[in-house]
Amino acid sequence: MKSPSDKQHPSIALGISGSIAAYKSLYLARLLVEDGYRVHALLTRSARQFVTPLSLSVLTGHRAITNLWTASEAGADVSHVELAHAIDLLIIAPATADLLTRLAQGEASDPVSSVALSTQAIKLLAPAMEPAMWNADTTRASIEALQTKGWQIIAPTEGFLASGRSGVGRMSEPSDLFDAVKRALTPQDLAGIDLIVTAGPTREHIDPARYISNPSSGKMGLALAQRAAARGAKVTLIHGPVSSPIPRGLYKTVAIKSTYDLLTACETALKAGTDGFVMAAAPADFRPAVTSTQKTKKSDGDKSTLALESNPDILKTLLPLRRGVLTVGFAAESQDLERYATQKLQNKALDLIVGNYVGSSSQTGFASDTNEVWIYSRGSEALHIPLAPKAEVADQILNCLAEKLRRD
Ligand code: PMT
Repeated sequence: MKSPSDKQHPSIALGISGSIAAYKSLYLARLLVEDGYRVHALLTRSARQFVTPLSLSVLTGHRAITNLWTASEAGADVSHVELAHAIDLLIIAPATADLLTRLAQGEASDPVSSVALSTQAIKLLAPAMEPAMWNADTTRASIEALQTKGWQIIAPTEGFLASGRSGVGRMSEPSDLFDAVKRALTPQDLAGIDLIVTAGPTREHIDPARYISNPSSGKMGLALAQRAAARGAKVTLIHGPVSSPIPRGLYKTVAIKSTYDLLTACETALKAGTDGFVMAAAPADFRPAVTSTQKTKKSDGDKSTLALESNPDILKTLLPLRRGVLTVGFAAESQDLERYATQKLQNKALDLIVGNYVGSSSQTGFASDTNEVWIYSRGSEALHIPLAPKAEVADQILNCLAEKLRRD
């Protein structure tokens, strides 16, 4: 048998039972496969009334298991028995009232319940049923019994049902199930921690058609917000104009344009209370002394000079509100990184500063998918994080932050 599990590409069994919501499991299978998971589908007999094994085999790249004798079928690459031992996670979506009850009773009469009974993997369950069934005493008792056995239940949502009625019983959407899988496979070491993360550039308008800004794409800050949320932190993201999608699963997001907007949004977020403040945004340090409300015409007088004035330094301005808040700044430098970064660590009264080079390589700093950074803190040696995808760099920065929060 091929070993379906490795650390980088966790292996997942997707169990499907007989509900109209089974069509959403096709999307879930695709989301998981696209994200690098190895997915094996398991179908009950009634699931096959709604989706075909062929669709799931094509989407997952593995022959779907539909009975307890699949290993003896030509072309099967793994049996339900082997799968139960090899997977990192089992998600049953949709789980009908009938399957819930059978699982609670420890039945193993089909591939889904059989794998569920024998696996030691993380187990998630996404129920889908009529509201009356969801509220029935037997269903409630089965859910409680399954939770006691370690199952994580992804509660159904309220809405329109295939029967034409509405109420609580709709299976969660594939993107929410996908997030739940990711969360379940990620250690929640930042649970209980509130974080403010800033990302992206700010824009200072000269007139409605022109502005001063910088090449920040927001990728570094968004990666920090995404990884922190995935590890259980309650994240408030304050971001300038960014083109990458805003990560799901954040507590709050605030879109801003100018450095003043950023200052105000950070002030509000700090007043609401937080454990950590990570300033990865690249605020414009200057703004035009005069902003025109109308587009300036080429014919409008002398254009040889643009008068600028300084924007406030956000980290310095907010120092009184930052007391007791672990603050991480960034230093974007084109030379002498260590000298300038450690100066900023002192001058801006930071707990940590993450130094990165900008302008010298397309692989670090602004707009790149990767970064190489040095993390400085007072009284310790710099920690060098070699070139890696921004999500991995973000995890290393968050490790330092978590370590400091634990110690202080
Ligand atoms: O967004 P990406 O394309 O992914 O690029 C990532 C990045 C290069 C923008 C990011 O890694 C980074 O270095 N962010 C900080 C950019 C910056 O403004 O650096 P700085 O050295 O000029 O500022 C030092 C610190 O003071 C920063 O934490 C900054 O957010 C903060 N600052 C700056 C100006 C200002 N007026 N107020 C501030 O608080």
